[in-house]
Amino acid sequence: MAERTLNGEVYYPAEDIVSNSNVPDRAAVTQAAESDLAGFWNQIAEENYEWFEPWHTTLDSSEAPFFKWFVGAKTNIVHNALDRHIKTWRRNKVALIWEGEPGDRRTLTYHQLHRQVGRMASVLRAMGVRKGDRVTIYMGRVPEIVIAMLACAKLGAIHSVVYGGFSVEALHGRIEDSHSKVAITCDGAWLRGNIVPLKDIMDEALHRSPTVQNVIVVKRTGQEVHMEPGRDLWYHDLLNLPIADPYCETEVMDAEDPLFILYTSGTTGRPKAILHTHGGYMVGTSTTLRTVFDIKEDDVWWCAADPGWITGHSYIVYAPLILGATSLMYEGAPTHPFPDRWWKLVEEHGVTILYTAPTAIRGLMRFGESWPERHDLSSLRLLGSVGEPINPEAWRWYHRVIGKERAPIMDTWWQTETGNFMITPMPETPLKPGSASLAFPGVKLDVVDEEGDPVPANEEGYLVITTPWPAMMRTLFGDPDRYVSTYWERFSKDGEWIYMTGDSAKRDEDGYIWVIGRVDDVIKVSGYRLGTAEIESALVSHPTVAEAGVIGVPDELKGNIIKAYCILRQGIEPTAKLADTLREHVGYEVGPIAKPATVEFVNSLPKTRSGKIMRRVLRARALGQDEGDLSTLQPD
Ligand code: WTA
Repeated sequence: MAERTLNGEVYYPAEDIVSNSNVPDRAAVTQAAESDLAGFWNQIAEENYEWFEPWHTTLDSSEAPFFKWFVGAKTNIVHNALDRHIKTWRRNKVALIWEGEPGDRRTLTYHQLHRQVGRMASVLRAMGVRKGDRVTIYMGRVPEIVIAMLACAKLGAIHSVVYGGFSVEALHGRIEDSHSKVAITCDGAWLRGNIVPLKDIMDEALHRSPTVQNVIVVKRTGQEVHMEPGRDLWYHDLLNLPIADPYCETEVMDAEDPLFILYTSGTTGRPKAILHTHGGYMVGTSTTLRTVFDIKEDDVWWCAADPGWITGHSYIVYAPLILGATSLMYEGAPTHPFPDRWWKLVEEHGVTILYTAPTAIRGLMRFGESWPERHDLSSLRLLGSVGEPINPEAWRWYHRVIGKERAPIMDTWWQTETGNFMITPMPETPLKPGSASLAFPGVKLDVVDEEGDPVPANEEGYLVITTPWPAMMRTLFGDPDRYVSTYWERFSKDGEWIYMTGDSAKRDEDGYIWVIGRVDDVIKVSGYRLGTAEIESALVSHPTVAEAGVIGVPDELKGNIIKAYCILRQGIEPTAKLADTLREHVGYEVGPIAKPATVEFVNSLPKTRSGKIMRRVLRARALGQDEGDLSTLQPD
């Protein structure tokens, strides 16, 4: 039992959580990892995975910051997530429990999932997809999205999943940048009882760039969709062909071969393609899931994210399957048809661990306690949070009303770039609401000032990471220079590579980390990561807009909301109707989540002398704060 010596509001773990935990002692593991980082990961990698050939070097820093892990090893993440399990008793264990928004259900055992993945991989291979080819996946939350991702990985193809809430231009840009050969989509997706017309959006995106040779369409919602002759094929038709063979060989991959790219918003310009690999990502994601959520054979793990974001990639698709766990996946909205849908799911499927985002908790909190109280939530043993700082009020509600003051909350801080949890409690860690607590064993971090020097306790600074880790991104696909300049140039010094997270944080007197938020032009709306650049370019693509500047401002429910400032073209009338049209336009081009909450028409935007929009000044004005140093501002 931890000594009760911490400052502030602290929740110590219940005795049974400690006694039932399989997780090793945090302090001891952290010390072991710190004294020999490569040795620490070497042992984990040897003991927990199957490799076709071993590595000769655990960590190769010779081309840093292009770090390499398990160099020389051969494996395939799908071999570890599926193939090896079907040789054991887990063959008939349920891998995936799925529930559709209308209430339909499917379960897939490891054996069944293995066959389905084999069939989709065989189909892709017959279409000419080979190792290293890119495949864009744009689907709703149906089992086929998991199958599609694993099928690509099995062949050594690189999947690029585009979140189903993104729209035409966002999808088009990502398809074009990745040079995808094949796309996989659905006719539509269910959301709040409505259909999101995924295939129509795909058609429009492909209309803008006809590089994709084939589109595989999974039937989900059943409405009429256009099928382009010679390009589009129904998945169920393909499954009837002899090519859809469940036996498809798993490609032998280098540990450092690419597994997927995932586009994410960055500081400037177009979205960046974060690249992850088969070896290190496999080891990192599954080790963190096992250690933080103490996954046991009889758990029902529910990561309520979307597979289209990193949380879904790592903790719906890859890590749980590598651990041989049973996962729940739910297709639709948390409040459909009633605000107790999630609690009903927990009760009916016996969910033991729920991992979600603060915005979802705040959203459900609004409806009051009577909805969760209708359901038996006693199966819940651990809870998790991710995506943005959790405000203490939401934390306490989650802890009391959902966790019944028994289930500790693992507030995990990490990023698309990091691949896995980086700052996180473990079941025995004393918790402070709003703090993600401590670095995962082997992760060293710091909070620094402009010069890169550590700031004193309780002072805000830049959050940086000073050690490499296996699941770190390897590069930005197609743009290695930008990888170095975005993440490594700012703070690295004296031969020491320091990774800039883009977040600000404080470290308190107990060493607990309090992440505050982004310090760049990334906006987190309901936990979704959006970039100002993409929204601004959608606004100026409208014929009425000459220039646009976009900022995030704090919002009680969504964490942040988007505020847009537009300069209209000469002679265009600034009306409320036009503001609405522009909001809809962003929704159509980027996606409904990117719609500005407000559009304000202005005559000028604050800019630097080199013409860069000073969002800091816009934000200060919007919040009625001091505008700070304006010496670099361009005169009007
Ligand atoms: C934020 C999501 C506070 C942070 C996994 C980070 C968090 C960005 C937390 C990455 C947390 C994520 N507490 N902030 N527990 N988790 N963030 O790439 O700003 O979509 O930099 O990855 O989310 O967002 P991304």
